[in-house]
Amino acid sequence: SKGTYEFYMLKEIDEQPAVMRRLSQDYFDGDDVKVDPAIVDAMAQSDRIYILAAGTSYHAGLVGKNIIEEYADIPVEVGLASEFGYHFPKLSKKPFFIFLSQSGETADSRVVLKQVNERNLPSLTMTNVEGSTLSREATYTMLLEAGPEIAVASTKAYTAQIAVQAILAKAVGEKKNLEKAKNFDLKNQFALAAEGMQELVDGKEKIDELAKKYLSTTRNAFYLGRGVDYAVALEGALKLKEVSYIETEGFAAAELKHGTIALIEKGTPVITLINDPATADLTRGNIQEVESRGANVMTFVAKDFAREGDDVVLPQIDYYLSPLVTAIPAQLIAYYASKNKGLDVDKPRNLAKSVTVE
Ligand code: M6R
Repeated sequence: SKGTYEFYMLKEIDEQPAVMRRLSQDYFDGDDVKVDPAIVDAMAQSDRIYILAAGTSYHAGLVGKNIIEEYADIPVEVGLASEFGYHFPKLSKKPFFIFLSQSGETADSRVVLKQVNERNLPSLTMTNVEGSTLSREATYTMLLEAGPEIAVASTKAYTAQIAVQAILAKAVGEKKNLEKAKNFDLKNQFALAAEGMQELVDGKEKIDELAKKYLSTTRNAFYLGRGVDYAVALEGALKLKEVSYIETEGFAAAELKHGTIALIEKGTPVITLINDPATADLTRGNIQEVESRGANVMTFVAKDFAREGDDVVLPQIDYYLSPLVTAIPAQLIAYYASKNKGLDVDKPRNLAKSVTVE
């Protein structure tokens, strides 16, 4: 039940530190990751991973690609299930398929899995629902353990999908004897993430103020980021569109100047995410470009790169896992933008919780 919460979405945002702790318990043995060895073996043998999903789960896959390539050292292709299903790319010699789906029922993903099975290729479903269709039809399953997600807008399943992909990446990297994977202190990172999420959740009033100040009357907005922040920008934009009906575009920070910057005018809200050490300074330059055209810039910045005047300082964790913490203010600002407009946050118009048509 919602308990004292007005909406499930906020309850589910608040639950994320607890989900991280649950995953820490169930997927670790001491400091070591614990994953079904059959899954690890199958994936370690693969020469390319294909991640298929839709919506928020697709965005979690974009983050997962970065984590898996870094720590398991296998190339990853991320596809929209709806596109992939009817336009299979040329596959590698030893493909391994990962289906990300909160519900485990998404029709677009089922279409792809059906063809994967026809070709007798190995697959893994990461889902929040035990016994769901995608789970039953895939070779393997890993559960997200996020607890029931009721709000149409996916929040805790997104961070759980990132976390479970990281667990798998570390397990596979260790199996391949990679130093990077062995030295990746994931248990500690999960603890830092849980703590950081809690800090951000506790500071939610600040996000409410930002939503009131910048998002109460605007018709459009932008999200900018580079690297994994670009992936989170796409997710932040989807969240904002979905629950507050503000037309929002997630953009690679440097790409804006190649055309879309023409849309920036006085008062256009631009949320900028900075966690990437390689590009933090460059993204500051992109902020100046939009600010000088009148944008209202909000900055969500990792502690190490934060400057005076940044709106949200994100607790510092491993760059590849930073979406776990960046997601919190991105989810909260969508929540408040919707609630402050008096909308039904949990049941946005035209949407259903699981999409079982193609
Ligand atoms: O259940 P799934 O994860 O397969 O659902 C995929 C999308 O339909 C879902 O993430 C959708 O985009 C959410 N409403 C986003 O908040």
